[in-house]
Amino acid sequence: MSYEAYKLIHIFGMYLLFLSLGGVTLYTINGGKKSENKFKTVAAITHGVALILLLVAGFGLMKFRGISHSAMPVWVILKIVIWLAFGGLLALASKKEKFAKILWFVFPLLGLFAAYLAFYQPF
Ligand code: HEM
Repeated sequence: MSYEAYKLIHIFGMYLLFLSLGGVTLYTINGGKKSENKFKTVAAITHGVALILLLVAGFGLMKFRGISHSAMPVWVILKIVIWLAFGGLLALASKKEKFAKILWFVFPLLGLFAAYLAFYQPF
């Protein structure tokens, strides 16, 4: 697969990620209970597919940047940490209104940081 194809998949993964996170977060903020969420399975699958696409395309992109799996720079390690955080935080966003309200602002900032790391590769 080409560098462009991996980029497209990486970006599509981001769309799916923020769609699922935003939807679940707003639902929780409005008092919605996870057990009563009619779309919870689709939202969870969307989130899971997003993470897989981001990971696979992220590692594909690394190959084109000449980064080996055994000697990852700090910015890539930080992106993997952010990816893990995005994986765990959906559960938190669907638990408590208080958490969801905070995460509404945390999610885009985490996304911004992930993009910053990719563009500037500072460390
Ligand atoms: C396992 C996790 C991840 C890995 C290994 C990874 C790796 C990469 C790599 C190697 C690039 C290419 C940089 C370049 O072209 O010079 C990239 C680009 C990018 N990544 Fe990630 N990434 C991961 C997760 C994420 C996440 C969770 C987000 C945001 C939600 C994200 C956002 C971006 C953005 C905005 C770009 C720049 C656009 C592009 O070139 O496609 N990444 N990533």
